[in-house]
This record gives sequence, C-alpha cells and structure tokens, in this order.
Amino acid sequence: MISLKGVQKTFNRGKANEVMALRGIDLEIPERDFVVIVGSNGSGKTTLLNTISASVLPSAGEIFFSGENVTTLPEHQRSRWVARVFQNPLSGTAPDLSILDNFRLAALRTSAKSLKIGVDEKFRNAVRDKVATLGLGLENKINQPIGTLSGGQRQALTLLMSVMDECKILLLDEPTAALDPRSAEVVMKTADDLIKQYSLTAILITHNLKDAFRYGNRLIQMAEGQIVKDIPSSAKQSLSEIELYSWFM
Ligand SMILES: Nc1ncnc2c1ncn2[C@@H]1O[C@H](COP(=O)(O)OP(=O)(O)OP(=O)(O)O)[C@@H](O)[C@H]1O
Ligand SMILES: [Mg+2]
Repeated sequence: MISLKGVQKTFNRGKANEVMALRGIDLEIPERDFVVIVGSNGSGKTTLLNTISASVLPSAGEIFFSGENVTTLPEHQRSRWVARVFQNPLSGTAPDLSILDNFRLAALRTSAKSLKIGVDEKFRNAVRDKVATLGLGLENKINQPIGTLSGGQRQALTLLMSVMDECKILLLDEPTAALDPRSAEVVMKTADDLIKQYSLTAILITHNLKDAFRYGNRLIQMAEGQIVKDIPSSAKQSLSEIELYSWFM
C-alpha cells in the first residue's frame, strides 16, 4: 500500500546548519499493517511521516500509494488517502465549535459530495452513534464546544473524525504524549480499535515503549535518518519487553 524507495530529506542544504534527516529510506508497508516507529529525538521519525503526508517533499527518492506514484502530489491531494493525528490535542479540532459542528467540518473537508451534508436529524444521530462507540459518554455532549473537553476526550474525537473519512492511511505522531496515563490508554485503545474496524494501514510514532510493545504488528527503530531495525509480526510476538528497552541503552 505504502512504498518508499530511496527517500532522502536534507534540510538547509549547503548551509552551515544542513541536516540529513532521512538518509535513503526503503520501506514497504502492506495494506492493513500497523507499524510502530521508535527512535531517539531527532532520528527522523516525524520527517518520515511528513514525507508520507507530503507536508515535507523528499530531496530524493519516490513514494507510492497502492502502486501510484504520489511523490510530487501536494498535501491537499494526498489527504484523500492520509489522515493525521498529532501530539497536541488542540491541533485536530476547532475548540469553539461543538462536537457536532466539528464532525460537520470533518465531513466537509473530505469529499465534494459531502458538501451537501447539513446538520439535520440524520447527521446528528449518526454523529451521536459514532461518538457513543468511544465509550466515553460524549454522545450526550455533542452540542458542547470541543474546547471544554479534556485533552484525552479531544484526542479520541480527533481520531474518530479522521478515520470517518475515506482515508486508508492513518499517521499518528505521538498522539498520547500530552495526555495523562489514563487518557493515553483510552486514546491508544481507541486508535487500535478504529484501525481494526476501518481496516486502516497505520503508522504510530511513540516514545512509550509499553505502547510500542503492546500495539501494532510490526516494529521499526530509526536512528540518524535510517531504519536500523525492522521487526515483522512473527518476530514482534516473541520480542521481550526487556529486549525492546535494551535498544535504547
Ligand atoms: N523543517 C525543518 N528544518 C530544519 N531541520 C529540520 C526540520 N524538521 C526537522 N529537522 C531536523 O531533522 C532531524 C529529524 O527531525 P525529526 O523531527 O524528524 O525527528 P524525530 O525523530 O521526529 O524526533 P522527536 O522524537 O524529537 O520528535 C532533526 O535533526 C531536526 O532538527
Ligand atoms: Mg517527532
């Protein structure tokens, strides 16, 4: 589904502050893979996700989605395939708008045909039913401004809104980093459920090794702009938590 061939990214090329953030990434991610990426600060994890969503264009190399070369396709066109959730719970939603209106915005954003969607009773009920699946009791608060909810509640809603598009690829960049442990667990569980329910191909970046251990079917470690370990499903199942921790010693 996602294929990266020799993807490189150099920032500030030729200047004193030149950084080679990606040094030739070759990566094949089949449909419905759930890949977890770990690695130290500055190892290139976010840059890698950015090249997939096109918020960063590679300096060299090519990117394919389902065999289609999307290397030069700009971000707004790639968003047909890709949904993203960021570290900051504030970045995914409009705080002054209600849950309902945020869902309406999300629907408007995704496809031209949903421009016809108004906030009628049918849409309201659909949102209520969807929100209820989170199990957070938010279905009774759909008229409440999203800014009045907790970071964890917002992050769970952001996830739900992003997967309700027709997107097939979900990119999660430290989605729980700003949350307390209990909310982080709810959000990760929600993400895991939605990825399965919507048959998504997903990439999660995390510094939480417990999550890296628990979630996903494939584990990648990055260092200095390269993939240094790529543990497939079978091997990930037999990987011990101690071994994973030892990668960072
Ligand atoms: N827009 C940019 N301009 C210049 N340098 C950048 C830019 N974005 C990233 N870099 C540099 O590229 C390298 C990789 O950064 P990146 O954000 O991909 O790391 P990361 O693995 O996501 O780190 P973290 O775990 O801290 O989020 C770093 O040295 C960073 O300073
Ligand atoms: Mg990062």
